[in-house]
Amino acid sequence: VFDEASADADADEGVSDRFFRWRNSVLSSRAFQRWAARFPLTRPVAKRRTAALFDLCAGFVYSQVLFAGVQLGLFEALADGPRTLDEVSRTIGMSPEASRRLLDASAALQLVETRPGGRYGLGVHGAALLANPSVQDMVRHHALLYRDLADPVALLRGERTTELQRFWGYVGDERPQDEEAVAAYSRLMASSQELVAEDVVEAYPFGRHQHLLDVGGGEGAFVKTVAAAAPSVRFTLFDLPPVASRAKQRLAGLGDRVTVVGGDAYRDPLPPDADILSLVRILHDHDDEGARQLLAAAHRALPADGTLLVAEPMSGTPGAEPVGDAYFGFYLLAMGQGRPRTREVLTDLLEASGFASVREVKTRRPLLTRLLVARRA
Ligand SMILES: C[S@@+](CC[C@H](N)C(=O)[O-])C[C@H]1O[C@@H](n2cnc3c(N)ncnc32)[C@H](O)[C@@H]1O
Repeated sequence: VFDEASADADADEGVSDRFFRWRNSVLSSRAFQRWAARFPLTRPVAKRRTAALFDLCAGFVYSQVLFAGVQLGLFEALADGPRTLDEVSRTIGMSPEASRRLLDASAALQLVETRPGGRYGLGVHGAALLANPSVQDMVRHHALLYRDLADPVALLRGERTTELQRFWGYVGDERPQDEEAVAAYSRLMASSQELVAEDVVEAYPFGRHQHLLDVGGGEGAFVKTVAAAAPSVRFTLFDLPPVASRAKQRLAGLGDRVTVVGGDAYRDPLPPDADILSLVRILHDHDDEGARQLLAAAHRALPADGTLLVAEPMSGTPGAEPVGDAYFGFYLLAMGQGRPRTREVLTDLLEASGFASVREVKTRRPLLTRLLVARRA
């Protein structure tokens, strides 16, 4: 039967569409899959692809094995050297059977390793985890996201109020009123900020500036790191009033080098006088309209030729593609606002808000943060 619609579609198809259609029809053929798994030249690729697809199917189980290890203090239990099953089982307060189940699963995920004499030691991922307490904080925090993702289709349809919306008290038109409402998210941000700040400070010479305004600066972890690297710079930190009062305590040691201002960046003018303004992990938290408002406020606060820094993880980061659109895409969906953006989309946003000469400065771990520098035109 001649199908006019599909004939038109074929005619519209470009060369690349035809290639992908052919490739996908081959890849989804059971006969081809069987052949590729046996033929010596395609066998390694077929094996890798099968394992990768299995990992996609089972990733949530791996994350929960990790979560159990963190909750039970498994990695701390192995911090001082390998332990026998009985020793681990006593330390984490689990039966030997349950401990063995967890240890074997963790060994398969390179969180722990089996050692001679039936003992267990830290694996490469377990050792890295111990060195970065912020990663364990993030794993614990993921309990909320895990519950929010239980029905991802309902989440995509926007049919439910999520735990992350409650956690991030500033989402939408809400503004947290007291310190209790911001303590959990401010602590989480402060613990993970250390790594981000290290990379930004290594990438950008702050010493050439006089006064940095950090908007949405949280408890001041970023300011503290820049202050140590650039002793001649003064600082203003701007955040919601309950967060600002936590920052005041944390930054007290910097004396009159730092001023902390509480306010709402959507409604209140940002403090003037800074020659450089930073937005660290801020824009991706906001929808386009909100991001434009924040950039307009930044533009008003900076002098002509003032510098804007935007530091955040971005979508389309080579080698870290799943972090942007898969992890942050769904994290921010559960949070209720914001989206990960590519460098190009961010550049367009900055230029439309009156910033020029937007350039990327390379950071050591682009997975954690990338850095855009722009000039207020
Ligand atoms: C994702 S956290 C990032 C904190 C910090 N820059 C960092 O990277 O660790 C976002 C910060 O923006 C602040 N924030 C959110 N909405 C705000 C608003 N309307 N005005 C001022 N600060 C705001 C929050 O209180 C929070 O500290």
